[in-house]
Amino acid sequence: MGAQMRLLPPTLPFRFFGAAAVMHVAVWLAGFWAAEGIPAFSGGPGPVLAVIHILTLGVFGMTAMGAAFQLLPVATGVAHRSLVPVRLAWWLYLSGAVVLFYGFATSIHAAMLIGGIVVAAGFMVFLAVVASLLRRARTLPLQVRFAWVGLVSLLLLVVLGLALIEDLARGFLPDHQFVGLAHLILAAFGFMGMLTMGFSYILVPMFALSANPPGPEGSVSFFLALGAVAVGVAGALVGSAPLLGGAALLGAVASAAYIRAMLWSLRNGMRKNLGLSFVLIKAAWLMLPVCLVMGGAAAFGMLGEHGPVLFTFMLLFGWLLTFLMGILQRIIPFLAAMNMSKKGKKPPRLSELAEAAPLKIHAFCHALALIAVGSGIAFDSSNLIRGGAVAGVVGALAFLWFTVTVLRSYRDYHKESDGGSAPLNSATPVSNPNP
Ligand code: HEM
Repeated sequence: MGAQMRLLPPTLPFRFFGAAAVMHVAVWLAGFWAAEGIPAFSGGPGPVLAVIHILTLGVFGMTAMGAAFQLLPVATGVAHRSLVPVRLAWWLYLSGAVVLFYGFATSIHAAMLIGGIVVAAGFMVFLAVVASLLRRARTLPLQVRFAWVGLVSLLLLVVLGLALIEDLARGFLPDHQFVGLAHLILAAFGFMGMLTMGFSYILVPMFALSANPPGPEGSVSFFLALGAVAVGVAGALVGSAPLLGGAALLGAVASAAYIRAMLWSLRNGMRKNLGLSFVLIKAAWLMLPVCLVMGGAAAFGMLGEHGPVLFTFMLLFGWLLTFLMGILQRIIPFLAAMNMSKKGKKPPRLSELAEAAPLKIHAFCHALALIAVGSGIAFDSSNLIRGGAVAGVVGALAFLWFTVTVLRSYRDYHKESDGGSAPLNSATPVSNPNP
């Protein structure tokens, strides 16, 4: 009952998840367009930077915001004081991101700066809302710690991001590329990495129906991951390969402890058949240590000419995108089902909310896209990258189709039970907590 009482009006989390699904299609379309410049990308504005931020802000940021706004109140039992800031964060973030993408794609400095500042404002509202929830949380100490480090990393990555934009016009930074790498490490490992690890310690036991993993793995993965991000950022800012290598090693040990804890949950969970989503999640768990080893090797120039781009691709598309697509295809129907509990009308089973075929198409095309684009970068072939981007677009459209089908099932369920339109702006009073 507590969890149900903490459900937000469905349009709030679903607008973030829906936007992530739409931006996912845009990432691969933009990747097709920017293919020529990808293998040799070494920073700076242009189509490739636009692709990176359509992915990181458009898919990752949207998913992280939607999940944090809905999951934290449900998991910690702490309610939002008001939903006005949640709506404000949405409008600032979406409008700023679109202007920033345009600025990066066209290299128009004014658009980059205005877009960057408005996105930053949206992120700061998000940060304030989540900080208020974390401050009042009295449970889940490990998960709360991960989230705090995620928020501090967010603040720092935004400051560096805006400084990088301003530096493009005024050239005041001591080393633009070093700061660009520090921004990448804070963003992908500090913000997204810490949030996904922290939320994994809530979501994976919840989906596997297991207890929280016992043993020290949770704290070990937290402190080592924190150390890896700190040493990595320091190494990037001073351009030190040994520090970057050390950070990659710390990160690899942290990820081993995290994966060990996650596998404990899967082994000891009551639900054994976790379906296609956990095939993606397990694949992402495999790509996390691989991308860290690649990062360490790239820091010493051992990955060849396109090494840094291959590392960034494996980090963003291999680990983070694969993981988030696995998680999203579980939380979207789960959240819809939690909002479908009308008196006297049995809510549908999760598997009845959408067909399985679109998710199979997505998983197959996603794997194909990773292999083709990764090979295209390694062998400097823009045609291979374009081929991979086409597979990515097909997979992303299939995922969007799945998302729309779930939302349509939600609307139809309420139409049938209310004999009218679906309640969108008010959470559903409940009768049966476990649909
Ligand atoms: C307000 C938000 C943000 C702004 C203003 C921003 C700005 C920038 C800028 C200006 C660069 C180019 C650096 C260069 O010239 O080489 C950059 C690079 C990058 N950003 Fe962001 N960014 C933001 C958010 C994010 C987020 C949330 C992520 C990831 C989760 C991210 C990931 C990256 C990556 C991976 C690069 C490429 C670094 C490189 O290879 O040089 N950014 N960002």
